[in-house]
Amino acid sequence: KKVVNIGLFGLGTVGTGVVKLIEGHQEDLVKQTGNEIKIEKILIQDPDKDRNYKVDSNLLTTDPWEIIHNKDIDVIIEVMGNVYPTYEYLMAALEQRKHVVTANKDLMALHGAELLQQASKYQCDLYYEASVAGGIPIIRALVEGFASDRITKLVGIVNGTTNYILSKMSEEGLSFEEALRQAQELGYAESDPTSDVEGFDAARKMAILSNLSFHMDVNIQDVKVKGITQVTKEDIELGKQLGYVIKLLGIAQLKDEQLAISVQPTMINKNHPLAKVNGVFNAIYVYGEAVGETMFYGSGAGQLPTATAVVSDLVTVVKQMNLGVNGRGVVAPYRPKLMMSDEL
Ligand code: NAP
Ligand code: HSE
Repeated sequence: KKVVNIGLFGLGTVGTGVVKLIEGHQEDLVKQTGNEIKIEKILIQDPDKDRNYKVDSNLLTTDPWEIIHNKDIDVIIEVMGNVYPTYEYLMAALEQRKHVVTANKDLMALHGAELLQQASKYQCDLYYEASVAGGIPIIRALVEGFASDRITKLVGIVNGTTNYILSKMSEEGLSFEEALRQAQELGYAESDPTSDVEGFDAARKMAILSNLSFHMDVNIQDVKVKGITQVTKEDIELGKQLGYVIKLLGIAQLKDEQLAISVQPTMINKNHPLAKVNGVFNAIYVYGEAVGETMFYGSGAGQLPTATAVVSDLVTVVKQMNLGVNGRGVVAPYRPKLMMSDEL
């Protein structure tokens, strides 16, 4: 059987999960694809770091170009984060005709259009399921499952860290700082958690989802954002007394050809299904003109849930390599710019 060689960028929370899944599920991956999946090289930045999951030290490198210019590598999995220098690396990797799988929402929200164009130019795949809502296959659902419908509204809890913090403050009376520390220890938070708690991470995810749902170029500046740093225990207590729960909600609504997108802490009735989404879980309501209301629920962050999305994308890429149809799935937004509105 043919070996598919992987260059892995990053061996942190998600990268380690990817290694565990590729090693632990190798037999199933071979059965599904007909290929052996082999991690050829891993890009890290600190060779002296004490890693609790041991990998062969010969696989590690601090030189991205060693991977990008390695002719034997077929697919790059990018789980190192940050927009730069990651953008340059992935543009170069695509130019070298490497397929790319990424979990990087910061990068996709800012440079997704250019990267997808580059992928299309070099007949490569670029998949990014893990960039939104961890283990929930929401991107696949939007692109494939709703292809025949017109989506009019999305309502979601799309950040695991803030949902964990709000849940712990509400259920266990933890302070904001203590709950954030736990979310960091559990590997849910970004390396700089400002983007989680200030709502930017959720805003980037809403921009990506809106792009796919409304077929237009949504810019992150188009999203009105307010995070949870101002939410106090008193706010949560008052909400409880009135029968409400505070959640950081992303809402994108299309009305009369105008699109409004926001992320903000919102009081929702305690009986609403979104009020029952606790801890690191995420949920996304999708409203379609024909289908009506649907809801997707699952782990929004964390090592193995996120790695499942990454490795599932990898399986798709490998199957498409076998069929020789990579790079055919890129669809340009056909409503380049709808009117943006401040009103929901
Ligand atoms: P992480 O634990 O901080 O790991 C980052 C890894 O990338 C580390 O191994 C680090 O190397 C390496 N790295 C970072 N910058 C580098 C550079 N310039 N050159 C070489 N190596 C570099 O991050 P993570 O939580 O796994 O997240 C990775 C990506 O997945 C991010 O885009 C994040 O937004 C996304 N994501 C994370 C989750 C989650 O639950 N954590 C869920 C969905 C998506 P060292 O090990 O040597 O420091
Ligand atoms: N920091 C992100 C979150 C990781 O908490 O949702 C998953 O994208």
